[in-house]
Amino acid sequence: MFKKSLGYVVVAALFIVATILSACAPATPTPAASTLAVGIVLPTKDEPRWIQDETRFKDAFTKAGYDVQILFSQGIKVLIICPQDGTAAAAAAEEARAAGVKVISYDRLIRDTDAVDYYVTFDSVAVGEAWGDFLISKATGTGNNLYLYAGAASDNNAFLFFQGAWNKLQPKIADGTFVIKNSSEAVALKDKATLTRDEEAKIIGQVTTDWKFDVAKNLAEANLTAAPAADKGTVFIVAPNDGTARAIADAFAADKDVKTYYISGQDAEKASVQYIIDGKQSMTVLKDVRTLVSDAITAAVAFLEGKTPEQTNAYNNGKIDVPAKPSAIVTVTKDNVKAAVIDSGYYPASDFTGLP
Ligand code: BGC
Repeated sequence: MFKKSLGYVVVAALFIVATILSACAPATPTPAASTLAVGIVLPTKDEPRWIQDETRFKDAFTKAGYDVQILFSQGIKVLIICPQDGTAAAAAAEEARAAGVKVISYDRLIRDTDAVDYYVTFDSVAVGEAWGDFLISKATGTGNNLYLYAGAASDNNAFLFFQGAWNKLQPKIADGTFVIKNSSEAVALKDKATLTRDEEAKIIGQVTTDWKFDVAKNLAEANLTAAPAADKGTVFIVAPNDGTARAIADAFAADKDVKTYYISGQDAEKASVQYIIDGKQSMTVLKDVRTLVSDAITAAVAFLEGKTPEQTNAYNNGKIDVPAKPSAIVTVTKDNVKAAVIDSGYYPASDFTGLP
């Protein structure tokens, strides 16, 4: 079975014992438990982002009355998979398809295969654009110091986020508002409005955090060691997610020549929400995981019913255009943190101190 080639960490392979369809109609008697099932694979347990997804999946299933057990995938009809490595996951997707299983790429796109039936995602280009808009809103005059950091090159999202940031920042780099301080590849491409994937890969190769706290910290420290004091002062930092943003922010905060920094992020991780309240991280992007989970379940149910999930968009994965319905994102700063993450019911106020 394709299970064998799921080489990445299986965090939550949820085996739904009651059928999804019967659970949707609680008035009718529940049929005997069947093996109808949806398998869910998440990339890692080491980042709060994916623990959020696991928790929200469990909440959604419990709320809908499903009997959820954590098991390894078996006998499934739909596979919801968020790959650790987008290209490496193609083999698993192909084995799943060969076994008659529908494959839903969750948050991260599986690349270079036609064995992907649907992509459940946020608008990842909009995430990068939100970073760009935010940093631009804080900059005045010309010659502002800009430091770029990116996600893992094995994650297609890293390219989409970067593309969004470049869409907004490139005109402001070309006109001198910002000067890139830590990527010679980005400097060499600064007059190019639209980058090819290969060009993006060159820049990402120089500024990748690999989505890891330690890599981000070491790279930021190396950049700061190499930079003269004139390249510090007030700095603008594109950080690709909250975990790496906190690591990078801490490194910049510890440098005596850095007076003020503006830094992006995403995921609204609790620790970053606290950093925002405390003025240590400037913004994050809330990607309401409840929406993604609900979209994934809706798509899975559509496949189980022999239907096609709703499509508003398509993402090229290097081989085919994968149908998708991207969800909106929300920029969160100190100004709206209470409304966006507390009043919205995303997190309880008691998880934080010093809320505005
Ligand atoms: C996700 C981000 C996450 C990052 C690192 C990306 O694919 O979209 O939300 O922070 O991976 O895990």
